Amino acid sequence: MTEPLSLQDVIKQLIKSAGPMPVWRYMDLCLTHPAFGYYVSRDPLGREGDFTTAPEVSQMFGELLGLWAASVWKSIGSPQLVRLIELGPGRGTMMADALRALRVVPPLFQALQVHLIEINPVLREKQKATLAGMPNLHWHQSLDEVPGGSTIIFANEYFDVLPIHQMVRGERGWHERTVEIGDGDRLLFGMAPEPAPHFEQLLPPLVRAAPQGAVFEWRPDAEIMSIASRVREEGGAALIIDYGHLRGDAGDTFQAIAKHSFADPLQNPGRADVTAHVDFQALARGAEAVAARVHGPVTQGEFLRRLGIENRAVALMAKASLEVSEDVASALKRLVEGGRGGMGSMFKVMAVSEPDLAQIAGLSDQPDAARIAAQ
Ligand SMILES: C[S@@+](CC[C@H](N)C(=O)[O-])C[C@H]1O[C@@H](n2cnc3c(N)ncnc32)[C@H](O)[C@@H]1O
Repeated sequence: MTEPLSLQDVIKQLIKSAGPMPVWRYMDLCLTHPAFGYYVSRDPLGREGDFTTAPEVSQMFGELLGLWAASVWKSIGSPQLVRLIELGPGRGTMMADALRALRVVPPLFQALQVHLIEINPVLREKQKATLAGMPNLHWHQSLDEVPGGSTIIFANEYFDVLPIHQMVRGERGWHERTVEIGDGDRLLFGMAPEPAPHFEQLLPPLVRAAPQGAVFEWRPDAEIMSIASRVREEGGAALIIDYGHLRGDAGDTFQAIAKHSFADPLQNPGRADVTAHVDFQALARGAEAVAARVHGPVTQGEFLRRLGIENRAVALMAKASLEVSEDVASALKRLVEGGRGGMGSMFKVMAVSEPDLAQIAGLSDQPDAARIAAQ
């Protein structure tokens, strides 16, 4: 057998030997195949890359998350050791901005151990450069490796890269959607010949009546359950920010993004980011199933406004040149507003906490994190 030259070759060999593969397996290979996976070999972020995330849009995003963490730390009794964990930290920009903001709370800054969960060696190197000089940094492959202790977790645009199952409504029930080889040796979507037994019972009531051909997406609960179990057992809270929907519904959101544009997810596997929207209702259900408390979700725009992003923008603009001021104003707009190019309504924010934590900054009716941190 000849050596595969690309992920496309690997996937075709697997399909030829074992039959059509479920979409989740295809997505997993695209992102994390040890030689050709998208998140194994490159830095996809920024203007030169494939997409831009909120922390890369403006320092305000990470700074406000730092103040949010300070408010959680105070609410859980200001422990002398707190583990600040970020899942999928990209270039380390958000953590650097958060830590800078946290310096204004010295007892917290001294209590911090910072843990970065990253599988991408290229991004790990960038994170090390971005965070150079910061104390108490640790890198891990997975959350399970982080020692116990009070915990605050950030996950920005992390869940959307975790593989999804797609199910298609057929005449006799819901079938797993697959990737197979069609005419001309091209990859195409198909579906398993037999419906998944009893799958309908797992669906939100809204989706049970979906018409034939409808697609329903789901992710295994393992990741949210492990996050929620950790904050419930060790104390603390996790903040999840991602694009997605408040209620589970039918719809095909599996997409590829390359050079800031949508691409065909079956073309050039491993060379484009493949993602799918996050179902916040399913995340909430998974967290509640392990007895954690859920706060929100609200839209990103609402969350950042409640944390005081507008005041922060005014403060930054007051000290800036005209050109920088314009950049701050346009970043503010992009982060909080909806509509074309805006992240404010497409992105949602939800927290998961230990059960006794009744109020969480930005997600409950309480003063903004900046004021709480200053108290
Ligand atoms: C879409 S990027 C978001 C980066 C960053 N949070 C930001 O907002 O700029 C996804 C991040 O998750 C990392 N990642 C992807 N799959 C992962 C996994 N299974 N475990 C840990 N990190 C993962 C990627 O390398 C990258 O750092």
